[in-house]
Amino acid sequence: MHHPTLLTVLGVAVLSQTLWVASVVLPISNCYTFNNSSHIVDFSSWIGKTFEYDAKGVNPDLAVRFCKDVETRSQTGYVDFGRYDNLNYFAAGSGQSDFFQRFYNGDLSGCELSYDKMGRTAQVNIICGTCPNGQFAGQHGCICSVTYESNCRVLVELAIPCEKPGPRVFQGCTVGFHPRSWELVYNGMTQFGFQKSRKEFSFQTEQSQVALYMTAVASLSSLVQKPSFKVSPNKGLELKLSGSAANGEPPTTLSPTVLIVDWRCEVARDVPYEVDLSIPVVGYEPIQFVLTKMCEYKQNQGGGTTRGWATFGVLSCIFFVSSTLFCCGGFIYKIRVENQRGIDALPGMTILSAFLETVSQAGRGYSRPVEQNSAFANEASWERPPVSSQGASRPTERKYGSI
Ligand SMILES: *[C@@H]1O[C@H](CO)[C@@H](O)[C@H](O)[C@H]1NC(C)=O
Ligand SMILES: *[C@@H]1O[C@H](CO)[C@@H](O)[C@H](O)[C@H]1NC(C)=O
Repeated sequence: MHHPTLLTVLGVAVLSQTLWVASVVLPISNCYTFNNSSHIVDFSSWIGKTFEYDAKGVNPDLAVRFCKDVETRSQTGYVDFGRYDNLNYFAAGSGQSDFFQRFYNGDLSGCELSYDKMGRTAQVNIICGTCPNGQFAGQHGCICSVTYESNCRVLVELAIPCEKPGPRVFQGCTVGFHPRSWELVYNGMTQFGFQKSRKEFSFQTEQSQVALYMTAVASLSSLVQKPSFKVSPNKGLELKLSGSAANGEPPTTLSPTVLIVDWRCEVARDVPYEVDLSIPVVGYEPIQFVLTKMCEYKQNQGGGTTRGWATFGVLSCIFFVSSTLFCCGGFIYKIRVENQRGIDALPGMTILSAFLETVSQAGRGYSRPVEQNSAFANEASWERPPVSSQGASRPTERKYGSI
């Protein structure tokens, strides 16, 4: 008989494992696209694969280099019919084809009247599986037909065994360190450096807070849910989420939401902590990324050293400004109201001079008996014997700056 508790534990472990591993990672190349229901299809392994079409003398032969270019090849040389270099050039097709690729900026000679001097252009319609005429594409794919719409534009039908679509990507979503950046998540996909824990992308011990900004396409923003997080190891790093994104407010392109990550190192470690953040999106793969946090030393309650120094700086600044104001105010008051001039008008000068007077008087009051009575001189000798002579020789008039 199976042990129900053990099975539950195993099940939960497997579930949480798959839950955190399944972030959609940005493909290594720009040779990918999405099918009509936003499932990513990565054709990176097809880059540069060449498909040739023998036109049997009517036209020059044609070659498609996948995600690179389209060209005709003849005795007189190659003619370039456009290059692939942009993600927008690869999209889901309509009706007859599953996807299409567009190629622009081919040879200009003879096609100078093309839009924006784009030169020769091509469109390759991609069919997954079999050509319309029944020709089987096989394992390596083949060109079904080639149609010249003009001297400057060619239409190619290409059949290949397509890659299997991946997860459903929440397209248009970005996460970055600024409202207009996407260092962590671009177009719903996690960027390199944040797809798993990486020391080179880590946050330092003294950084006690990170603000992340999230945007999404406005029409889909209501699908965004409250984020959750997991820290591993699960003890030693205190973490709190706040900000509008933490409450599950809908982000849009024009009004990003902010997710504030407050963290404090409670246990120092050589190996950084791994913080997995997951933002569920109804009907789509969740937005997931990993933050790496160093904890070289333990931080005390209330934000650590950085915040302490900041408070000290603010307080010092307030003190400095208010004492300057007080001083100037007093100076002006004395000149205007009490008609004092020069150094006497400085605030606190009366107090200072009174203090100096008292001190010098006290010095004289003390030194006189020493001069007269030798018994006192002996008693005072443990401290500073020559003080009496100094006190005696001190001039009696008031002098500023004698301290
Ligand atoms: C996109 O791919 C997914 C996953 O294979 C599939 O279920 C869906 O039907 C595809 N959508 C279209 C419009 O082909
Ligand atoms: C995919 O979407 C495009 C535009 O939204 C539409 O024209 C086309 O018919 C769709 N194709 C499929 C196979 O659903």
